[in-house]
Amino acid sequence: MVAYDSPSYGLTSIGGADMEGLAAAHKSLLVLAPDVEPKAGALTGPKLPIDSDFKKNTVAMAAPIFAALDAMATPGLVVCKSGRRARVVIAAWACVRQGGDADAACAYLRSTNDLDAEKEHWVRGVIAAHTVGATNPLVFRQLFECESNTYTYLLADGATRDAVLIDPVDLTAERDLKVIDGIVTADGKQGFKLRAGLNTHCHADHITGTAELKKRLPTVRSMISESAGAKADVLLKPGDKVHFGKRWVEVVATPGHTDGCISFVLDDRSMVFTGDALLIGACGRTDFQQGSAAKLFESVRSRLFTLPPDCVVYPAHDYNGRPCSTVLGERMTNPRLRDGITEAEFVKIMAELNLPYPKKLDASLPANILCGFPDETAWMPAKAD
Ligand SMILES: [Fe+2]
Repeated sequence: MVAYDSPSYGLTSIGGADMEGLAAAHKSLLVLAPDVEPKAGALTGPKLPIDSDFKKNTVAMAAPIFAALDAMATPGLVVCKSGRRARVVIAAWACVRQGGDADAACAYLRSTNDLDAEKEHWVRGVIAAHTVGATNPLVFRQLFECESNTYTYLLADGATRDAVLIDPVDLTAERDLKVIDGIVTADGKQGFKLRAGLNTHCHADHITGTAELKKRLPTVRSMISESAGAKADVLLKPGDKVHFGKRWVEVVATPGHTDGCISFVLDDRSMVFTGDALLIGACGRTDFQQGSAAKLFESVRSRLFTLPPDCVVYPAHDYNGRPCSTVLGERMTNPRLRDGITEAEFVKIMAELNLPYPKKLDASLPANILCGFPDETAWMPAKAD
């Protein structure tokens, strides 16, 4: 295992209480604020904010810390209250300077007992933002289908020109392809190569566009969770990365609306595509398609609300014209799932919704378990590219 520890880089990560004896042997100091006031003797250095509760830390907070680490004379001290934040930021910084193997950095931090879900999202987001995020700009479009109020998302690598669509709809597949072909970026290049159509789950209110896309572009691969009970070119598992060029989205299991619901988290943690698991100020219903309010509560709280506070939430639908919200916004204001609401309260809210039977359920589900094809005889596997 690569040791992303302090001594390899001439830096020592310590808790504030331990630093008196060490200070004399070091040349520079970085203080991670706000909850430590070290007595550093002759050592002075920048004092930069990062909270010990990583739910409060944005990916952008890493940039000034990384600049300070680059500028430090060695041997140097990085100090916070317990030493834990110092170990996390040094590992993320060292990983970026070594080429950005986030799996290795996370394995190292797991071995030192410094990783939880919030820190892992932050570390992975920071490493991606400072590597592929700096070299391969994201091209992003939010598209809308007005009959089912469905959002479709186009994500593309502006450098390699590879693209994916999340939650395409059959009625707007043609439009989506025109959008992909028509985008001109600042470097004068036009259009992208669509690689895949990703489904967050087996929708009950519209037919997925993945079959229509494959009919027009036979190398496009349809994807859905292996837990959805559907047929697709690629069955996704939690932790899988779906690449488009050098960029990617990661698969996060968010069951509860259906058993096979997944969310897609962008590499740098700036966006999450939540399907029907988390909607703006709401969530998907849990009263059919193997729905479970208890499972949905766990999914949202442990897998989505652990993302950075400014991570933008892009749902599969909004019925009020709102394009997106943020993780912190949902944690503060979602009337069903905001911080402080208990699982029992959420289960009660969901049980009392009394929603009507979905209009297109009977037509949508048989097609969506074949990623949009009407029956098995029509199924087309993706052609090799
Ligand atoms: Fe749904």
